[in-house]
Amino acid sequence: MPPSPLLELASDRLGQISVLSVAVATLASAVVFYIGSEVKERSRRKGHARIPGPTRLPLLGSALAMPQSHGWLTIANWKQKYGDIIQLDLLGYHLIAVNSAKVARDLLDKRSGLYSDRPQFAFAGELCEFNRSITLMKYDEPWKKQRKIIAQEFSTSSSIPRYWPLQEQQSRLLIKTLLQNPGQLRSELSMRLGIIIQRISYGYPVKSHDDEFLQLTLASLNDFTRAGKLGNFLVDFFPVLKHVPEWFPGAGFKLEAKRMKQTLNAAMRRPYEWTKKHMATGEALMPNLCGTILSEAQAPLTPEQEETLTWAAISSVGAGLDTSASTALTFLLAMMMHPEIQKKAQAELDSVIGTDRLPAITDRPALPYIRSIMAEVLRWNPAVPMGIAHSTSKDDFYDGYFIPKDSIILPNVWFMTHDPEVYEEPSKFNPERYGNSDAEMKKVYDLVFGFGRRSCPGMQFAEGTIFSIIATALATCDILPELDATGKPIFPELVWSDGVISFPPDYNCKLQPRTPNALSLLADATASSE
Ligand code: HEM
Repeated sequence: MPPSPLLELASDRLGQISVLSVAVATLASAVVFYIGSEVKERSRRKGHARIPGPTRLPLLGSALAMPQSHGWLTIANWKQKYGDIIQLDLLGYHLIAVNSAKVARDLLDKRSGLYSDRPQFAFAGELCEFNRSITLMKYDEPWKKQRKIIAQEFSTSSSIPRYWPLQEQQSRLLIKTLLQNPGQLRSELSMRLGIIIQRISYGYPVKSHDDEFLQLTLASLNDFTRAGKLGNFLVDFFPVLKHVPEWFPGAGFKLEAKRMKQTLNAAMRRPYEWTKKHMATGEALMPNLCGTILSEAQAPLTPEQEETLTWAAISSVGAGLDTSASTALTFLLAMMMHPEIQKKAQAELDSVIGTDRLPAITDRPALPYIRSIMAEVLRWNPAVPMGIAHSTSKDDFYDGYFIPKDSIILPNVWFMTHDPEVYEEPSKFNPERYGNSDAEMKKVYDLVFGFGRRSCPGMQFAEGTIFSIIATALATCDILPELDATGKPIFPELVWSDGVISFPPDYNCKLQPRTPNALSLLADATASSE
């Protein structure tokens, strides 16, 4: 039966009154909060200065100055005016952007006991539950447990080489497919990386791009990007809104959060259940993170242990997929624009490895120029240009400034790897800048894989995948741009995407086999694995 017009009118009015009362209550609580926090902060500063930054307005703070996109570029431009550390205040949050590798090290590495927390946001954290994954978790005991599991599986000198054959096999399949069909670059890359990451996390064999577990993960990663951007959801500034019921006018965010939470939970639970079920049949391929823990356990895991394990596994999947994809896409783009660098890399590969076999990850120590290309790819476009925000667990003082507890620390990694005082002509792709010195390359790794106790536990694993893609591609192919009707190469405008993980612009490239032998080497190496 349709509702009566009187009922509709009454419910409309009720809706308007309720929205108004929530808005007034929210504003009033903001005013009280603002005055209270200003007064408290003054006494906590103990005579230290506030960190410089764009003009703050009462209540609004620095809202009007907040960069709308590509924050790392705006913040880099502010260095001239405000210096190495810049503070933005936004409705109760203190955002402290760091434009200097030294300051990032001083705070995030040297004072890691104080700077290893993560900010907690109502939407991504409490409503969608992304903060149950290690990447966004508070710095506490549950975090330590997840971190230990991931570190044991992916960053010890004995665990890492177990995955080299898988990384090599998938890199070779990637290059072989792209030689035949370069138009599939993004989807093929995402599938190959998906195969690697689902395999190492669950022993699960992804068979195609539309594999349901892979698609669940990609959907959840998409949600993460939207949920994690401060400013997308009002509830992050007014956490009281999280109590608004789903049916309430304007509470569409609650439904969106519910959907994101469901997707995340499915992406986290279903592959794990699959592993448990298929361990006994041998279909779950060993080793893998979940399989290692399950097979070493003396008794069935407790619910708490399963919770730790499932979140550790999905965190690795989420953290490893797009970061590696962005890095591989940056590599191909750089190569397509620099044939002279390809030639030099190929000469090194030919002289060290010859042309009768494909490069392996164990060849890495003998290939300094390939290692330089890898470092330069990571520097030229760091996949996570503003890092992942840390937060402070206590008030702190640095260089005469006050850094309040719960400040959100944003390391501007992009600027640190483009600082003209450190990297001459920083926007130029130039592997020679390292002079083949691993110590110089390490300086890049130390920035782009993050800081202190939260630094990336998948770094060594990621290096294997990226190295294998770079060495296999250069050993077997020339990477060429497409040509326009007049025969001129087509290069994209070099604008990387906005977001926690930044991607190169869309581009098309062609892969051309360097020798007939290269094709047969790829065919032989991949014959049994398609
Ligand atoms: C090129 C590839 C990668 C890049 C550039 C990268 C970069 C990063 C960065 C910048 C962070 C944040 C560090 C910080 O908070 O200071 C991070 C965290 C993390 N990464 Fe990676 N990563 C990559 C690949 C991987 C892979 C393959 C895995 C898993 C196998 C992984 C697992 C993680 C995890 C679990 C965290 C969260 C650590 C924590 O909060 O304690 N990453 N990564």
